[in-house]
Amino acid sequence: MGCCGGPRLWIGCLVTSLLRSDAVKVTVRDRSLEVVRGDSVLLPCSFRTMSPLSRLNIVWTLAPLSDPGSPFQVIVYDHGQVIENPSLIGRVGFVSVPWTADIILNSTRVSDAGTYRCVVNNPPEPGDPGIGELRLDVLAPPSLPQCLWEGDADVGGTVTLSCSVEGGVPAPEMRWDKLEPEQISLPLNMEGTMKSTVCIANISAQNSGLYRCSVSNPLGTQNCYIHLSVYSPPDPSPGILQGVLLSLSMALVLLALLALVLWLHRSGRDRKWKEGEEEECYNEIRYTPTLVRRSFV
Ligand SMILES: *[C@@H]1O[C@H](CO)[C@@H](O)[C@H](O)[C@H]1NC(C)=O
Ligand SMILES: *[C@@H]1O[C@H](CO)[C@@H](O)[C@H](O)[C@H]1NC(C)=O
Repeated sequence: MGCCGGPRLWIGCLVTSLLRSDAVKVTVRDRSLEVVRGDSVLLPCSFRTMSPLSRLNIVWTLAPLSDPGSPFQVIVYDHGQVIENPSLIGRVGFVSVPWTADIILNSTRVSDAGTYRCVVNNPPEPGDPGIGELRLDVLAPPSLPQCLWEGDADVGGTVTLSCSVEGGVPAPEMRWDKLEPEQISLPLNMEGTMKSTVCIANISAQNSGLYRCSVSNPLGTQNCYIHLSVYSPPDPSPGILQGVLLSLSMALVLLALLALVLWLHRSGRDRKWKEGEEEECYNEIRYTPTLVRRSFV
């Protein structure tokens, strides 16, 4: 009777072959990790092997989130030597090689996000290399958004407000508010995940004011603002305006009269001082006849 003659024997056979297997076994503690941009992260990868470690070979690769089709080598351990990717020198290192294949990544960047693989070979151990895989997400607060408006800001026109943000992981949420005279939340259209627009049709003077776009994710919030002024043609019939203008011109006339009176008063006093008189209460009476007489001459 052969090794795999019946179901029970087949299972027994599988277990035996697993126990006897010589291939390198790799275990990854966390399948998915998150780190805040700038912080350090430990990428775990431990392995088990039956052979001595003198010819151990470890290769870490990254398939970046931004370009998953182009994986590249991050760091290699080979025959006791460590080779880092030139773009990562000083930021990546093994933690306790050759006992584990764990690496640490310092000063993380958003571009470090993606799928990491550790591939462990330990010749002369036969069989396929052990492979572990994990996903790293690098979280970042939203960057400063940019607010723009376009369209026709005359009464009756249509204006589109837009807000776009370059970065932020997870993708930031956006909202638009009109802040004055009271805060109102505005309905917005998303264009992808990083841009939103608000369309205001048939605008009137009431649409003038300050608008704010807020982008936020769990790591932070950023705002940009737009001040919208709706140009209205001069209104021909505002009774209030006419009233205001009338009162203004009356006030001006009164002011001019007051200035004239003060000026007359002052010039009279100057003349009196030049003539060296000490009494002033009767100046006007004394001068009036002369003025009157002169005007009739
Ligand atoms: C990463 O940072 C840790 C702690 O600051 C430091 O011990 C380690 O040497 C750094 N590794 C690299 C590759 O810079
Ligand atoms: C535009 O707004 C004005 C005043 O608010 C209104 O009288 C008019 O009917 C509106 N026009 C359209 C096309 O909605």
